[in-house]
Amino acid sequence: MPTLADKRILLGVSGGIAAYKSADLVRRLQDQGADVHVVMTAGAREFVRPLTFQALSGNPVHTDLLDPSAEAAMGHIELAKWADVILIAPASASVMARLAGGMADDLLTTLCLATEAPVLLAPAMNQAMWRNKATQANAQTLRSRDITLLGPDAGSQACGDVGPGRMLEPLAIVDGLIDFLRPAQILAGKKVAITAGPTREALDPVRYLSNHSSGKMGFAIAAAAARAGAEVTLIAGPVRLETPADVTRVDVVSTSDMLAAAEQAADDCDLFIAAAAVVDFRPAVVADQKIKKEDGNDRDVLSLVKNPDIVATIAGRRDRRPFVVGFAAETENVIEHAKLKLARKNLDMIVANDVSAPEGGFNSDHNQVTVIDHSGEQTLPAALKTELAAELIARIANKAFSGN
Ligand code: PMT
Repeated sequence: MPTLADKRILLGVSGGIAAYKSADLVRRLQDQGADVHVVMTAGAREFVRPLTFQALSGNPVHTDLLDPSAEAAMGHIELAKWADVILIAPASASVMARLAGGMADDLLTTLCLATEAPVLLAPAMNQAMWRNKATQANAQTLRSRDITLLGPDAGSQACGDVGPGRMLEPLAIVDGLIDFLRPAQILAGKKVAITAGPTREALDPVRYLSNHSSGKMGFAIAAAAARAGAEVTLIAGPVRLETPADVTRVDVVSTSDMLAAAEQAADDCDLFIAAAAVVDFRPAVVADQKIKKEDGNDRDVLSLVKNPDIVATIAGRRDRRPFVVGFAAETENVIEHAKLKLARKNLDMIVANDVSAPEGGFNSDHNQVTVIDHSGEQTLPAALKTELAAELIARIANKAFSGN
């Protein structure tokens, strides 16, 4: 998966000869999977035409703060909220000064004030301007407000001078951004096993019992755990999803397959997360041949027996018991039922999931959950499963390994 996949990047381009390199920067960001919207200052438009960025980014270019038609399409506050990160490259001395002064005198500076996303700058200016005490003081002020500066580089400049102030090359800016966004390695050195997707119980050679789990939630958690530095084993029921980067996948079908794989993984893991939707009952007998619709075979064709509870088995271990997190898929009295499962299955934490909500639960890209442990509960805002997974991993790691 590309490193900036699904990242929404607002690229601010301000006035300077380095603006021509920002056209390449758009491409390099897209190579990493980012969705890029470009905002240009009036100065930038003296160097490069908006059409260049529109063609490269595939999105309209934003230029004016008080343009009624642009505001009707995506208003400036909406744009500020849309961004996961604002990257200004090149950031001129003037933009740095206006940001340090807290000004909102054009679209770009207004967006920087209105956003809650992180802001990164790649400064580009003449070496004397960069060394000027005013610019240095502005850089210091911006850093103290958690604005990150990437560069500048030093070397020969377009004006003929030699010294610090050159904008970093586009690839170096992308690397700096990736480093900035890289999650903290909160699970470094930890082994994590995760169950995901449905199980399937064969009735006969052509039919089975199962459910609507797509595996998206469990796979997102596996990806987030790997990004946080864990060694991850993903025990996956039958799903059509790609294995996340740096994750070892064990494919299973039935509940007993999943239990065997979980027992093996749990022998050597610090954290066990059960996101799978395990089929609770299986046929007492799996027919060798396809079950026929014969006369008299009208009802009670199936006799079911209860499947073992995988997460409760792992949580019930006396030896080599990892920290155990379950999920609870509920359609009513969600919190109450989840708390009962937390206690009954002897879990350390449970993620309560209202699967009757229109947005979220089975097969959706979104989810809305409440995290419950023995000291309290917290409802998280509805979010993409990929974003929620990172938040869940942060909370689980904090609880399991830092004693909070
Ligand atoms: O896969 P998606 O389409 O992305 O959907 C995500 C999800 C809705 C499947 C997921 O977020 C979720 O809620 N998973 C748990 C589903 C479930 O089976 O919940 P449950 O309340 O029936 O089970 C409680 C816990 O016990 C779960 O951790 C489950 O994995 C575990 N369990 C249940 C039965 C069983 N025999 N063995 C188990 O380990």
